[in-house]
Amino acid sequence: MPQNSEINRQILLNSRPVGAPTARNFRVEGGAVPTPGKSEVLLRARYLSLDPYMRGRMSDGPSYAAPVQLGEVMVGGTVSTVVSSNNPKFKEGDLVVANGGWQDYTVSNGSDLMKLDPNMERPSLALGVLGMPGFTAYMGLLDIGQPKKGETVVVAGASGAVGSVVGQIAKLKGCRVVGVAGGPEKCAYVVKELGFDACVDHRSPTFAKDLAAACADGIDVYFENVGGAVFDAVLKLLNTGARIPVCGLIAHYNDTKLPDGPDRLGLLTRTILTKRIRMQGFIIFADYGHRLPEFMEQMTAWVKEGKIKIVEDVVVGLENAPEAFIGQLEGKNFGKLVVEVSPE
Ligand SMILES: NC(=O)c1ccc[n+]([C@@H]2O[C@H](COP(=O)([O-])OP(=O)(O)OC[C@H]3O[C@@H](n4cnc5c(N)ncnc54)[C@H](OP(=O)(O)O)[C@@H]3O)[C@@H](O)[C@H]2O)c1
Repeated sequence: MPQNSEINRQILLNSRPVGAPTARNFRVEGGAVPTPGKSEVLLRARYLSLDPYMRGRMSDGPSYAAPVQLGEVMVGGTVSTVVSSNNPKFKEGDLVVANGGWQDYTVSNGSDLMKLDPNMERPSLALGVLGMPGFTAYMGLLDIGQPKKGETVVVAGASGAVGSVVGQIAKLKGCRVVGVAGGPEKCAYVVKELGFDACVDHRSPTFAKDLAAACADGIDVYFENVGGAVFDAVLKLLNTGARIPVCGLIAHYNDTKLPDGPDRLGLLTRTILTKRIRMQGFIIFADYGHRLPEFMEQMTAWVKEGKIKIVEDVVVGLENAPEAFIGQLEGKNFGKLVVEVSPE
């Protein structure tokens, strides 16, 4: 058990952002370490996952999930250690994936916990390639994108948690894979280390031309992670029968109004009709929770065999979570972003 004097550091939502979040939207407090009740466990976070969806939870507009209330702890997935347990299914020392939030300690009744192998070499992977982002890449690409050998697959956020896995799975399926990433360093990594066929820098003024040159045979699957200017460039290159899994729209998460410029809805719907394009949104656990075991088995094997490489960006210290999260929305992360909250 922790000492009574020990403090539970918590990062709370202080105010709702207008546009891009700033440090002032967060507040750090030191609360008491909670005491687990009947059938509950006390958890201590080792790793906290930082994900773009958290921007949505900071706003109170309509969404598929409830917002964080002002003064509440920011939500987030964690890899946590069971410190003490009143639940027969868990014992001290167990390693679990939890919804621990941006704090050191939390209690759980166990229903939302997933046990991990306590000897797992890199437990943080349970928040990345072997967790929610990897699962998202796997289901979105294979179930909705349905890539076929020889087809061209394009994915943005190509060095990130979801995109890096999408591209690597598409390569395993025999596709030609074009990544889109921010800057030459990320693009070079995606091609040289992750094995994509090409990668185009969306920050370059010649982006649309460069993408067209990299997709000489058009685009059969566009895995949508970002929206914005990337989607505009992709739309013109889609082949008849293309599939678009709509996973995320990070380019718009800080928008405060609809984008300027001519209304492009007519162009979009005409392209969908004339090219018979299938575009489908999905929310990973709501739509595919029942297929988690299949994913875990396949992805664990691919990682063990070295067929999927891991790109992880580890930030040390819970207090650095706000800055790291703000940076993620600007493309400052390089790979799956996790915070090391406490060393082993
Ligand atoms: N539907 C679901 O269930 C589900 C589940 C998980 C994630 N997602 C979504 O999947 C997407 C990727 O998530 P992730 O966890 O893999 O994040 P990530 O790629 O690790 O980090 C976000 C990246 O987005 C890129 N980005 C930011 N603004 C951009 C812009 N305006 N144009 C192009 N790229 C931009 C940046 O990379 P660059 O430097 O390369 O620009 C940034 O590093 C997000 O939209 C997220 O919301 C959806």
